[in-house]
Amino acid sequence: MVDMETIVSLCKRRGFIFQSSEIYGGLGSTWDYGPLGVELKRNVKEAWWNTVVRQRGDMVGLDAAILMHPRVWEASGHVAGFADPMVDCRKCKQRFRADHLESLEKCPECGGDLTEARMFNLMFKTFMGPVEDEAAIVYLRPETAQGIFVNFENVRETMRKKLPFGIAQIGKAFRNEITPGNFTFRTREFEQMEIEFFVKPGEDEEWHQRWIQDRLEWYRQYGIQPEKLRLREHACDELAHYAKACTDIEYEFPFGWSELEGIANRTDFDLRQHAEYSGRDLTYFDDQTQERYFPYVIEPSAGADRATLAFLIDAYHEEQVRNEKRVVLRFHKALAPIKAAVMPLKRNEPRIVAIAKELADNLRKCMSAMYDDTGSIGRLYRRQDEIGTVWCLTVDFQSLEDQTVTVRDRDTMEQIRLPIAEVPARLKEQLDNAC
Ligand code: GLY
Repeated sequence: MVDMETIVSLCKRRGFIFQSSEIYGGLGSTWDYGPLGVELKRNVKEAWWNTVVRQRGDMVGLDAAILMHPRVWEASGHVAGFADPMVDCRKCKQRFRADHLESLEKCPECGGDLTEARMFNLMFKTFMGPVEDEAAIVYLRPETAQGIFVNFENVRETMRKKLPFGIAQIGKAFRNEITPGNFTFRTREFEQMEIEFFVKPGEDEEWHQRWIQDRLEWYRQYGIQPEKLRLREHACDELAHYAKACTDIEYEFPFGWSELEGIANRTDFDLRQHAEYSGRDLTYFDDQTQERYFPYVIEPSAGADRATLAFLIDAYHEEQVRNEKRVVLRFHKALAPIKAAVMPLKRNEPRIVAIAKELADNLRKCMSAMYDDTGSIGRLYRRQDEIGTVWCLTVDFQSLEDQTVTVRDRDTMEQIRLPIAEVPARLKEQLDNAC
């Protein structure tokens, strides 16, 4: 399996992910997506949105604000209960999550004595407006979910939705993690892709199982090797304060099996809490049974950064081709940051260059494409393989004669000739069929 060092180095070298504020020495565990990383992450989010919103009749979308009324976080239980136990080493001053240590006797780094565990709230606090006092406190949301719960009635009413239905949202969330790490896996600022799916009480367990299978299938559909995915049910003592049950979809990262997505049964906890704290009626009237009740909620909650990292790691392949190491990112076509790269066989032959640039322009109208003449063809193929470009198109002398180009497939390395005029439509068709 590829190690994290190789992935981190490729990400920096090829413009996927940079350290945040690097010219100032970096800011701990914060990362910036470069030109290829932003394309990849957007494709991951788009694939998720297409699957869970656009292709379903029982889902709608939402984009709620990051800042919310502070009472939201009292109602949700985050002010009182969203905390991790923290210990400090008295000798080396390192800080650890107590529940991540095997023993609370000695510091795992230097053997020094540890302090008593203290609870540390993970929410980032800030102030709204110019006055920094208790009345002005607002929080950066630690989950996007609450934006959905507080809009439940708005969405249900305006979209005339009946149970079962769900609301999906992609957005930033923030947690002041005690020990972030493993590159973009655990960061203090991160992006969530969350669904709150509202169902009739009593139908929740069946819907929970359906969502677990649907979400597992999504990762497979977009190319993650099935043997690298597994389900893990939470034990009672690790459940969040709002959950009756939770199953994680885990991926085998180079640092071990870790959570990609948690699918929780949140019961009617959140709607009940918000009804109580806001004084609004958030019950649902079931016109079939003529009853009012709080819907139960199934929550598939995925990390956009974690999914992007998993797709990157899973796509990474090294192979030997004619005594040379070939590094190739075998992304699913829909996820690849660049779909097509057009290259001239000779960059100082104006007729070849003109055709190649025009073809790249035509491809850009329907997919992410680039013109590349920064090296020999062999070198350009290697560079494009390393970023997962699906097709390399070469314009050569034969193109001048018969208006065809070679199309090289990233995965098979096979080359065929296609009429230039047909290339954009033919490749677009293949992309559409892949989604
Ligand atoms: N909404 C669930 C979570 O953020 O973990």
